[in-house]
Amino acid sequence: MRHVAVILVLAALAHSAKLPSNFLKCNRKQPDLKECVLKATRDAVPKMIRPYKEVNLPSLYPLEIPSATLYGGSGTIALDQHYKNCKIFGFERPDIKQFEFDFEKKTLTVAIFYPELQQNCDYMMDGKILLLDIKGEGPSVITLFNNTVDCFLKYEEVKKNGKTYMHFVDSKLKMEPEKVTFRFDNLFNGDKALGDNINAVLNDNSKEVFADMKEAYVETVNQILIGLINRFFGKLSIEEAFD
Ligand SMILES: *[C@@H]1O[C@H](CO)[C@@H](O)[C@H](O)[C@H]1NC(C)=O
Repeated sequence: MRHVAVILVLAALAHSAKLPSNFLKCNRKQPDLKECVLKATRDAVPKMIRPYKEVNLPSLYPLEIPSATLYGGSGTIALDQHYKNCKIFGFERPDIKQFEFDFEKKTLTVAIFYPELQQNCDYMMDGKILLLDIKGEGPSVITLFNNTVDCFLKYEEVKKNGKTYMHFVDSKLKMEPEKVTFRFDNLFNGDKALGDNINAVLNDNSKEVFADMKEAYVETVNQILIGLINRFFGKLSIEEAFD
């Protein structure tokens, strides 16, 4: 079953690019490659508060997602969640624990802790959560606190014009937020009393609500991450990314 549909602004065709000059470069033969790549990643991500067009990266402050739909859900959730014009804050402030390539096995293992990820979108929903009718459209904010993200990616090598590009074909993502809060404005055509009431119930039961939307949510984040990584490594060959 298809759980999500995410639209990212798609990448232009790959043409060899160089690593931005303010990014650190590692040598694949250096003995402490693992530490070097982790350091380079930790150094680079906070710089991505502006786009790096030359390597096809959008600004992470905020990361803009034109549209995402989370289909269905499990347990208490019986509705599709339609989100548009999303701005996600917090991707630019990760605590990166691991960012490790295995060039033999063609894998990338990532472990990141995000203290706060805040997703601001226009939402549209009509259905049930926790057996409550939920209907509305308007601005929404979903915030994930102390979010532990683990991701395992596999890539294939694609040769183009004598260079080797990593094309990521598979990724498995796990996400464990410590706390989630919801705010859906303008529920029920702006019936404030009812809307406040529903928001309070969602937040009082946020663990359960998030657990039931988690599969689709994780899949969405997974598509966003693999999209970003493929944009970058679709432009930047292994030979240019590393010495
Ligand atoms: C997040 O973790 C920090 C440090 O452990 C803690 O002080 C804070 O209360 C946590 N925040 C939430 C919302 O759980």
